[in-house]
Amino acid sequence: MKSSSSEKAWVFGYGSLIYKVDFPYIEREPASITGWERRFWQGSHDHRGTPDAPGRVVTLVPSHIAICRGVAYLVNHDVFEHLDHREKNGYERHGVNIALATSSTTVEGVIYVAAEDNHAYLGPVEMEDMALHISQSRGPSGSNTEYVLQLAEALRELGDHDPHVYALEALLTE
Ligand code: BEZ
Repeated sequence: MKSSSSEKAWVFGYGSLIYKVDFPYIEREPASITGWERRFWQGSHDHRGTPDAPGRVVTLVPSHIAICRGVAYLVNHDVFEHLDHREKNGYERHGVNIALATSSTTVEGVIYVAAEDNHAYLGPVEMEDMALHISQSRGPSGSNTEYVLQLAEALRELGDHDPHVYALEALLTE
């Protein structure tokens, strides 16, 4: 069925969607999803790097017991046009159950995931190498280091502890 712009949907933000809210929303709640964890394994050609020198940004990787905390937004369906464009470099929408923290309910929604078969995927390397790469990267949206520090700060404000993000933050600020 064709979706009309008055249809609503939940989208779960785990990266820049937590703190860079350049779209209208109807509701916003701290939330979590189970079975996924954040990793700086996706190349960024268009925000924190360039096609010749991609930066590193977050994607989600499946992990059986992991809980990933972030923010859920209830949006009109037409917001996806904007988000699909903003996150066009390898990300695809994927259906998930989202646990809303304040209203203690679970809703169906979507996440943007950059899977390992996408053209911009970089995958894992040693944390020190990742930090060095990030420290040297910059793109149209600003420095790659700033992206990590903004995300770490946003997660702290949510009361989350993400060892992967905080380890990178520590390496980039030491
Ligand atoms: C997010 O914050 O949910 C997000 C991060 C990267 C790409 C798309 C979405």
